[in-house]
Amino acid sequence: MNLLLRLAIASGFVALSFGARADSSSIESRTEPLRAPDAASGRRIFAATGGCTCHSNYPGEAEDAPLLAGGRALATPFGVYYSTNITGDPETGIGGWSDEDFIRAMKEGLSPAGEHYFPVFPYTSFSGLSVRDLLDLRAYLASLPSIRRANRPPGAPFPFSWRAAIFGWKLMNFTPVTMETNADESNAWNRGHYLVEAAAHCGECHTPRTMTGGLDRSMTLAGSRQGPEGELAPNITPHEATGIGSWSRVDLVWYLETGLKPDGDDTQGLMSEVIEHGYSNLPGEDLEAIATYLATVPAIENRVKGN
Ligand code: HEC
Repeated sequence: MNLLLRLAIASGFVALSFGARADSSSIESRTEPLRAPDAASGRRIFAATGGCTCHSNYPGEAEDAPLLAGGRALATPFGVYYSTNITGDPETGIGGWSDEDFIRAMKEGLSPAGEHYFPVFPYTSFSGLSVRDLLDLRAYLASLPSIRRANRPPGAPFPFSWRAAIFGWKLMNFTPVTMETNADESNAWNRGHYLVEAAAHCGECHTPRTMTGGLDRSMTLAGSRQGPEGELAPNITPHEATGIGSWSRVDLVWYLETGLKPDGDDTQGLMSEVIEHGYSNLPGEDLEAIATYLATVPAIENRVKGN
């Protein structure tokens, strides 16, 4: 923890001396042919993200809990962070943002005012989303009810509550994802790669983290004992004994649709939420694509479950 503190504080100074500022010039939106944003297509991306479920308060909440209005406490090893209001409310939500603001937040982890977002917001994965998909997603979010509800500051201790320190965290841990088509692989594989790595951000929970809270890329999808909210996220690489190598394709597609495991167990916690509010609404071809891609990731031996 000492090292962490030192790194975070040192990086805060770097941020202060260089001045962390939003720089819209790096947004590569201009290279993609743009059509009018389409909320119906955005609904599919919304499903692929798992229904932006961290922004809603489902567990134990009143039935009228405000959908996507934020305020949900997300416990991490670095303290508690609260998700933000992503409804269209112009003052407390994102209704007043420009499209560029939205793209910058998702791809660079920067707020419209140029502040760094805490990496509990998985821009480490969302940075791989195409601009077209992002604008469609925004159109879909804008089609949902706006709710006025102010954001809460983090309950994390200093320096993890210090946005400027995130500048240094990003230097160490954040390389925006660029999704390139692999011509040697099928369309389904490429679609699955995009969904798993960018939209569905499976690795944000299933990949273990380094000491500084970055994703440990040498252990991609090999399971994490410290997933969000302290949950254990199993190894989902095709490793036979410690991963899901013994699951068939049909098992995995069925699981993402229903939350039922091959042994008949149901799913708990955050995974059940991303399935219910997100993945289960994906068309079958997308679920098949996820299964196609996941079967090809390196099998890593890592036992995270207690059996
Ligand atoms: C928000 C965090 C989160 C995200 C995002 C997430 N998972 Fe999970 N996943 C979990 C947790 C936590 C569990 C354990 C659930 C349980 O114990 O019932 C889990 C369980 C699983 C299991 C069951 C494995 C087993 O051995 O029982 C599979 C398969 C799985 N996830 C696949 C995926 C895939 C594929 C994606 C992306 C499309 C994904 N998950 C995205 C948190 C997440």
